[in-house]
Amino acid sequence: YLNYHVPRTRREILEVLIKGLHRLEYRGYDSAGVGIDGGNSKEWETNSKSIHLIKQTGKVKALDEEIHRQQDVDLDVEFDVHLGIAHTRWATHGAPSPVNSHPQRSDKNNEFIVIHNGIITNYKDLKKFLESKGYEFESETDTETIAKLVKYMYDNRESDAITFTTLVEQVTQGSAKSALFEHLMGISLHPSRRGGPLLIGVRSDHKLSTDHIPILYRSCDAVIEHTNRVIFLEDDDIAAVRDGRLSIHRIKRTAGDHPARAIQTLQMELQQIMKGNFSSFMQKEIFEQPESVVNTMRGRVNFENNTVILGGLKDHIKEIQRCRRLIMIACGTSYHAGVATRQVLEELTELPVMVELASDFLDRNTPVFRDDVCFFISQSGETADSLLALRYCKERGALTVGITNTVGSSISRETDCGVHINAGPEIGVASTKAYTSQFVALIMFALLMCDDRISVQPRRREIIQGLKVLPDLIKEVLSLDEEIQKLAAELYKQKSVLIMGRGYHYATCLEGALKIKEITYMHSEGILAGELKHGPLALVDKLMPVIMIIMRDHTYNKCQNALQQVVARQGRPIVICDKEDNETINNSSRTIKVPHCLDCLQGILSVIPLQMLSFHLAVLRGYDVDCPRNLAKSVTVE
Ligand code: F6R
Repeated sequence: YLNYHVPRTRREILEVLIKGLHRLEYRGYDSAGVGIDGGNSKEWETNSKSIHLIKQTGKVKALDEEIHRQQDVDLDVEFDVHLGIAHTRWATHGAPSPVNSHPQRSDKNNEFIVIHNGIITNYKDLKKFLESKGYEFESETDTETIAKLVKYMYDNRESDAITFTTLVEQVTQGSAKSALFEHLMGISLHPSRRGGPLLIGVRSDHKLSTDHIPILYRSCDAVIEHTNRVIFLEDDDIAAVRDGRLSIHRIKRTAGDHPARAIQTLQMELQQIMKGNFSSFMQKEIFEQPESVVNTMRGRVNFENNTVILGGLKDHIKEIQRCRRLIMIACGTSYHAGVATRQVLEELTELPVMVELASDFLDRNTPVFRDDVCFFISQSGETADSLLALRYCKERGALTVGITNTVGSSISRETDCGVHINAGPEIGVASTKAYTSQFVALIMFALLMCDDRISVQPRRREIIQGLKVLPDLIKEVLSLDEEIQKLAAELYKQKSVLIMGRGYHYATCLEGALKIKEITYMHSEGILAGELKHGPLALVDKLMPVIMIIMRDHTYNKCQNALQQVVARQGRPIVICDKEDNETINNSSRTIKVPHCLDCLQGILSVIPLQMLSFHLAVLRGYDVDCPRNLAKSVTVE
């Protein structure tokens, strides 16, 4: 949403909106739309149809083209006050189509228009009610009920002020915390935030006169090229911008609940969200890993005196050390980071560690106790399943810890304490650098947990020194890119790829298979090598592509057995192994040789070849690496 208070043409406003949508596109991209008003022109006063809606299926580019095809919207007319909203959609209710895209409207005159993120779970009841009052619905979306409800409430208002608070309560009643109104436009502007991040960019000179632009966005990515000064809205805040003036209201005002919000400065550079010389964000992010893991450790790990400090945990670490068990809860790649570090956490904390998929954890109503410590691992910090699991654990009195990459995200705000992984913005939908940084952050936590246990000091020192050399070793793995591209050229026409390993590398298998699935659309499965003979071995023959991970750790001999089992079924596995492991190199027809590092850190090096492989496979198969079909970066719906 944009509110300009200096003369601008519609074209300029639309350019800013479209650029913002491009920056956010990775979060959802099956359709997009804009709403733009008639400013303070005569048209606005005389024609209630002055809000134009332009919507299109597909990516933002398609919307941009559609805007320029419009005949009845004068793009060059100049207004003093301008309002515009825009949205990219990831379909939940109703297939991607122009009519289902946002903004949704109250009526054919576009009196109220709404964009929204989340699910209105009681929308069917609301819709039934509105239909009984004669409203006709045109889309299959839940969002349309908001627009129509606003109109109903406005038309039946007792006073001139629309009872926005009542509206918010109506709509969020059934949907608990997931509903979010980005804003309503027409009478006045009211964005509110419930369970999702909403921020206001503030750009003004000292006199607040010439170039005063409050910009309201859901994400820092879209705002950063205009300003780094932002206000984060809190739950139940309603913000209104009128004639360039911003006011914030509370839905329910309680004593001491003051809606003053500080302007914060974003520590983010535009460059961080640009692709630079890379063909995709995913590729850029893969190649950033030598620096992103350093950023995760910066100021926290002291390699000289082998100490670890995590400021975000310092007030709670004693309590965590006394807990009964650790539960790591996450989805997708973030879940794999939990699987990858579980063993070292068990080793260094001597506590039982559970790793849970957030959705399943909730489905099972998993017992959680006051003396549990629950970790929520999430790149975005907004994943609905993880957020709901967090609230579930809080209600049961557990201490909650966030491991996120997004400052100000819901998970980082709602947890009792936490660690920011500081990997920098991750834009490619397939998570890469966040995984390795989550991995490092969890290792740092494990080190902190045992810093005063004498018996583990040699192991601690070994791990800290292992972390020190990690960035150089990652660089060495990245230098295999050309070799991996050649391997991808041999594999890209296949239908399926199996990835096998065990111990520290089981997580690598799961993560590698997820990367391949999501961006190449090939079938891929991560298989625990210990389970091979219990079923998956039946898949192996001379045609099935198999990748095996064999590293020189405590599972080495067992992995060699698995290799023999595969070879005996005429399989010709590609083996990711230690570059000094001549035995494996000599016994395998094809190897990808990675440098050796400490057992519990080796998973960081073994996953990178699979990230690169999935990238090259997707490129060769002709797919858009950054925007895989049917997926979105932040999954803010259950
Ligand atoms: C896969 C991927 C997803 C996310 C998952 C959780 O590449 O990115 O599996 O890991 O949706 O997202 P966050 O970490 O934001 O909670």
